[in-house]
Amino acid sequence: MFITLEGPDGSGKSMQVPALSEFIRSLGYQVLTTREPGGTFIGDQIREVIMRMDNTSMHPRTEILLFCAARAQIVAEVIRPQLEQGVVVISDRYADSTLAYQGYGHGIDLTVLRQILSFATGGLVPDLTLLFDVDVETGLSRRQSGGGEWNRLDDYAVAFHRRVRNGYLELAAAEPARWLRIDAAQTPARVQEDLQKAILTRLGPRS
Ligand code: TYD
Repeated sequence: MFITLEGPDGSGKSMQVPALSEFIRSLGYQVLTTREPGGTFIGDQIREVIMRMDNTSMHPRTEILLFCAARAQIVAEVIRPQLEQGVVVISDRYADSTLAYQGYGHGIDLTVLRQILSFATGGLVPDLTLLFDVDVETGLSRRQSGGGEWNRLDDYAVAFHRRVRNGYLELAAAEPARWLRIDAAQTPARVQEDLQKAILTRLGPRS
């Protein structure tokens, strides 16, 4: 089973990954967690190029192709082989981040993006996508006070993040069988409870 975590900056998804994967392990599954961009030797180098604060002149098309290049590598090198072995793979961000950020956020044509994404991933679509939904102000202020990794991408206007959030909500509404919205404004413990409930309805104890 391929599970992806999506959400705006500061939605707190990354901090939930260890407990969530431990929970799935306790059901008897092998679990692998990855994050984007990065997650492979090659992907981590691409991540550095994307995140460098002084790469201010990066063209949006370049940025898209770099995200997708890192993704192509991790799908081929890690995600697909692990899924074939029956491992539950949890990816912190995946193709929907490109639709939300580059598509809805930056206004790049969604049809074009979907074609690039399909090429990069070889058509691999998650079985379950958990949307960590939080309003933009809460997300950004958490990000600022949380001491998390600050990067070039955080400097965009609040309006951009608003488009990203609305994009996520639109993507989730269009594919309700794959997406599940989690209220990420709750306490981390409550968020974890919701995540575990969502997993239990889809993934019983391994027989
Ligand atoms: P990161 O520091 O990993 O943040 P987070 O913990 O929020 O995932 O930075 C990832 C940033 O890159 C985040 O702002 C979202 C953005 N991003 C895109 O714009 N497009 C993409 O395809 C991906 C994977 C990430």
